[in-house]
Amino acid sequence: MCGIVGYVGRREAAPLLVQGLRRLEYRGYDSFGIATRDKDLLVLKHKGKISDTVFVSNPLPGGLGIGHTRWATHGVPNDVNAHPHVDCTHNIAVVHNGVIENYSELRKQLTARGHHFSSQTDTEVIPHLIEENYEGDLLEAVRRTVAVLHGSYALLAIAQDDDRVIAAREKSPLVLGIGDGEMLAASDMTPLLEHTERVVFLEDGDIASLSADHYEILRAGIPVTRPVEIVDWGVEDVKKGAFEHYMLKEIYEQPQVFYETVRTATDESIVPLFKKVPGVTVVACGTSYHAGLVFKYLLEGMCSIPVRVELASEFKYFTPPIRDLVVAVTQSGETADTLAALRKAKAHNCMTLAVTNVQGSTVTRIADQTIFTRAGPEIGVAATKSFTAQLAVFMQVANLLCDRELDEVLSRGHLAISEVFLMDLGKAVTLCKDAGLIFFVGRGPFYPVALEGALKMKEISYIPAEGYAAGELKHGPFALLTPETPVVAICTPGNTYDVMISNIKEMKARGAPMVGIGEEGDSELEEIVDVFVPLPRSPLAIRILTTSVVFQLLSYYTAKALEREIDKPRNLAKSVTVE
Ligand code: AGP
Repeated sequence: MCGIVGYVGRREAAPLLVQGLRRLEYRGYDSFGIATRDKDLLVLKHKGKISDTVFVSNPLPGGLGIGHTRWATHGVPNDVNAHPHVDCTHNIAVVHNGVIENYSELRKQLTARGHHFSSQTDTEVIPHLIEENYEGDLLEAVRRTVAVLHGSYALLAIAQDDDRVIAAREKSPLVLGIGDGEMLAASDMTPLLEHTERVVFLEDGDIASLSADHYEILRAGIPVTRPVEIVDWGVEDVKKGAFEHYMLKEIYEQPQVFYETVRTATDESIVPLFKKVPGVTVVACGTSYHAGLVFKYLLEGMCSIPVRVELASEFKYFTPPIRDLVVAVTQSGETADTLAALRKAKAHNCMTLAVTNVQGSTVTRIADQTIFTRAGPEIGVAATKSFTAQLAVFMQVANLLCDRELDEVLSRGHLAISEVFLMDLGKAVTLCKDAGLIFFVGRGPFYPVALEGALKMKEISYIPAEGYAAGELKHGPFALLTPETPVVAICTPGNTYDVMISNIKEMKARGAPMVGIGEEGDSELEEIVDVFVPLPRSPLAIRILTTSVVFQLLSYYTAKALEREIDKPRNLAKSVTVE
């Protein structure tokens, strides 16, 4: 969702801000803008995608500035609603990520006191409030301002007659980059990697003042110290390299990601956590929710530990009466619904564990314990390597809980993923690309894999796609089966093989073109489907990985054939930081 970046230091701010905004593009946005301080406060903002021409024709001077990519919540995407927003005197500029819940009341009060508003945004109340509170000290003015804000915010403010960038955080991420003669602030680490590896993660309620050589963090007006951490990602990790899309690069990184995550997620101290509780509840959204569903099959099947998997957005409002270990799964560590569900679980005195990909993210501060996935930065909006890394964590957890019975299998996972890259999915893509609707079906752990396949397909190709447990299709969806409705079915050895073969025949009999993902040499399956995708013979855990990767590639190449904007699908944000 919105991204913010700020800079103060020895260099020209504008090019750094623009470069920073480009790094934040992956979060999703519909407009952008920057403000710098020179002789005057200069603001440039536009609807649409960041374009160099805008900045080349209007180079904003100044060594201090703030920038923003906006994902509209209050007010349509247009030039006026784009950030930064300024006060009546054009002395103060603000960028903001989050939602000010009491903005309409504040706006009425400010209007009654003579302030003039130009935009429809909730954010615009902030510069006007700062204007009222400003008596020559921007830090103090921001402190007084945030005291009346309700809701979530990561905000940066600058003033024409102040040498500092002021940053404030409440329920929305904000990280400082500590440079040499320069300081930065941003919504996440990606814009900072080019400039420094030293970062400070702000906590809710923190206000920071940044000048070129110094930073200070206050909480309730009192200076506090936050640890300076060294980022374990490098700048190369956020570059696309020779790949056409980040998504493809990230798919190809999966062997390494799986290997690294399995290798590092070996802390046996988590075993007692799982053994002390009556059961496990996973809370998550989207792809992370699907990984949680796979975890359920692993933990229940291998370790006889009962697992429930809840959509975080539901759990928060309809919290079940549990005494479980609550596991929050979130790539970004910032998904608002997942954080809210986790807070709810804590309020119910549940023990909590986070599985996340991002160092310093909010989820790591809320959960009692964290296991990190080692996916590196994921820039494509469609989750790929982060899903595989979550599976790696869950497989390793199940392995640790079951006397390492998966050790040998896990040591081969990365090789099995690499083999998928050699497969030819051309015929399957041809069958899918003109479809009006595609079903993905599987049973057992392949049911969540099918859900994830459908999610991937719909989000990047825009073809409606549904994931189903194969047995459910005849309870309604059969009505939709036609020769224009391909079904992609996972049918590999195991106790549901025979019933899957029957299901495939039933679907075929209703005219649906069938893509069968099965084990190589399976002539029975090959004969009944239209397109057969053979997987090397392998144990169940490996097949969960390989079928997932097949679906990622199928979605990718289908979206590519349709010339979709693969890395930034319409209307989506990488990290959903509002409920
Ligand atoms: C899927 O490709 C999406 N990016 C989306 O469903 C994502 O998994 C969901 O928004 C949860 O994100 P998180 O893992 O960062 O919490």
